[in-house]
Amino acid sequence: MQALDTQTTIAVIGAGAMGSGIAQVAAQAGHKVYLHDQRDGAASAGRDGVAKQLQRRVDKGKMEQQAVDAIVGRIHPVSALSEVADSRMVIEAIIEDLEIKHSLLADLEELCGKKTILATNTSSISVTALGAKLRHPERLVGMHFFNPAPLMALVEVVKGLATDHSVAEIVHATATNWGKKPVFATSTPGFIVNRVARPFYAESLRLLQEGAADPATLDAIVREAGNFRMGPFELTDLIGHDVNYAVTNSVFNAYYQDARFLPSLIQKELVEAGRLGRKSGHGFYSYTEGSKRPEPDTEPSRLSDDTTLIVKGDLGPASALINRFRDAGLDIVERDGPGQL
Ligand code: NAI
Repeated sequence: MQALDTQTTIAVIGAGAMGSGIAQVAAQAGHKVYLHDQRDGAASAGRDGVAKQLQRRVDKGKMEQQAVDAIVGRIHPVSALSEVADSRMVIEAIIEDLEIKHSLLADLEELCGKKTILATNTSSISVTALGAKLRHPERLVGMHFFNPAPLMALVEVVKGLATDHSVAEIVHATATNWGKKPVFATSTPGFIVNRVARPFYAESLRLLQEGAADPATLDAIVREAGNFRMGPFELTDLIGHDVNYAVTNSVFNAYYQDARFLPSLIQKELVEAGRLGRKSGHGFYSYTEGSKRPEPDTEPSRLSDDTTLIVKGDLGPASALINRFRDAGLDIVERDGPGQL
């Protein structure tokens, strides 16, 4: 199936963290992009944010100013929803709330032509349920980007029960053209990634609640020992606790309140306090000017460059560690069978 031509216009509704990033991705690929948000000034602020991000690349000599100007020039903030009517595809990235998304999609169906693809960036709401109140649910598809959208390659293309297969294929091909690595998923709660990620956050929050360690220490352990790019607390600060908490509730309820997906009171407290993470300047950590991240309380490494590690026998799955130690500059001696070290 053919990807959308870059001559077609894309609209993005919701100019928060995700919407602005998605607008950048589409504009980078060459599309004209309408960006709309119900909050006054948010769409322009979203475009300014994209310009600021890209300017950093210019400053580092990684991008030409001209290219940045062209990308930013393709993003058009629009104040009325009706202005997106002639778009070939509209991607919604508004608040994670079924009723509000329903109402927006119904408005879009009225406004846009029959051929317009309606895509939702929902993290967890059933695409089937979102389509249920549309007259043409076959043109609704999930197009789930990850945060930050310009950097993260994965896109889940989510098919609801009524989604037309060819619509999903067009979106898949378009995501590929936009430099992404799309995968098809069905509209199961949390799709693929959020299904897997829920226990990651939930278990970390339980560790915190039980006083196992503080957020900085738990983050450092997950990063350093688990080789994750970010620990659970810095990651949820990036995602936004309002969004993450809404997704947790949505998956919890979709699985008939299975205890595995139980939301955490810690996250509820953060949301109620307005500590939404980076976007509000405070979450588990503070992001205000001059604030310093607390140091993790971890044991310093006892290994020095001249340490020799003797590996005896088959370590099974843990044998992957041998190469990591070797890469870290340690001297490894491997010995087979019984006998002296
Ligand atoms: P956000 O809170 O940063 O931005 C949401 C924006 O939508 C706000 O600017 C708000 O004013 C606007 N908005 C709300 N209702 C609207 C309406 N009816 N019409 C127009 N604009 C409206 O949220 P974020 O993080 O960008 O999330 C948006 C969507 O993307 C949610 O569905 C979320 O689940 C999903 N998502 C979020 C990820 C994350 O890491 N934050 C990752 C992947 C998906």
